[in-house]
Amino acid sequence: MPLPTIDKNHLPRHIAIIMDGNGRWAKQHGTTRAEGHEAGAKSVRAVVEACRELQNIEALTLYAFSTENWRRSQGEVETLFRLLSKYIHLELDEIHQENIRVTLMGRKEGLSEQALADVERCESLTANNTAMTLNLAINYGGRGEIVDTARALCREVEAGRLKAEEVTEEMFASRLYIPQLPELDLLIRTSGEMRLSNFMLWQASYAEFVSMQTYWPDFRKPHLYEAIAAYQARSRRFGGR
Ligand code: IPE
Ligand code: IPE
Ligand code: MG
Repeated sequence: MPLPTIDKNHLPRHIAIIMDGNGRWAKQHGTTRAEGHEAGAKSVRAVVEACRELQNIEALTLYAFSTENWRRSQGEVETLFRLLSKYIHLELDEIHQENIRVTLMGRKEGLSEQALADVERCESLTANNTAMTLNLAINYGGRGEIVDTARALCREVEAGRLKAEEVTEEMFASRLYIPQLPELDLLIRTSGEMRLSNFMLWQASYAEFVSMQTYWPDFRKPHLYEAIAAYQARSRRFGGR
């Protein structure tokens, strides 16, 4: 697939991807779902590299595990977290060398000790990196994030530090899990699905949504460029004329 042409001076500042279709890819290839997830990890590497190379993408958020994904079999859940550990083990040094900061967007409660230790190692090692943020959505749910944010604000009201009337959209946004992220510009979902599946409900308000047929394990730099080209062809009006 040739590389679609994109305008490198008007890149989305923040891209998020719902990495979907590992299971269907596995079925198509007559292999196990675990192999599908394993293959998906290679796409993560390719996409992080491609975004970093573009230089002006400030944040890449990847939906790796939703709060609803606990409903899968114990074996599949274990596979997914084993792959997360493996990915971190293999890639962290290079991510750090590339000056990429890693953040975890999600509830830390509920993660295994191993997963928590892995993610916290990424966060602490890369905390001062500035070239790009790789934001991993793990044990993440959009409604849960909104509820957690509301709770944090309620606690401030209870403590007398804040008045209910003082709560604004800006203030709410500043209490989300990873408040320093730029506005979400481009939201990609692979495998042809057209739903959010509880992903970034607050942040998606004015993101451009691009659904692509490609299964996640087949997703590479040209697919990313295709999504960016689609984004650049859109007319964003934000409610104005
Ligand atoms: C995405 O692929 C990976 C995760 C949700 C963790 P799926 O496992 O959802 O693949 P499909 O949707 O069954 O094809
Ligand atoms: C969304 O995909 C979650 C991730 C990609 C991590 P799912 O495959 O879990 O979503 P549904 O079940 O099709 O909505
Ligand atoms: Mg799926």
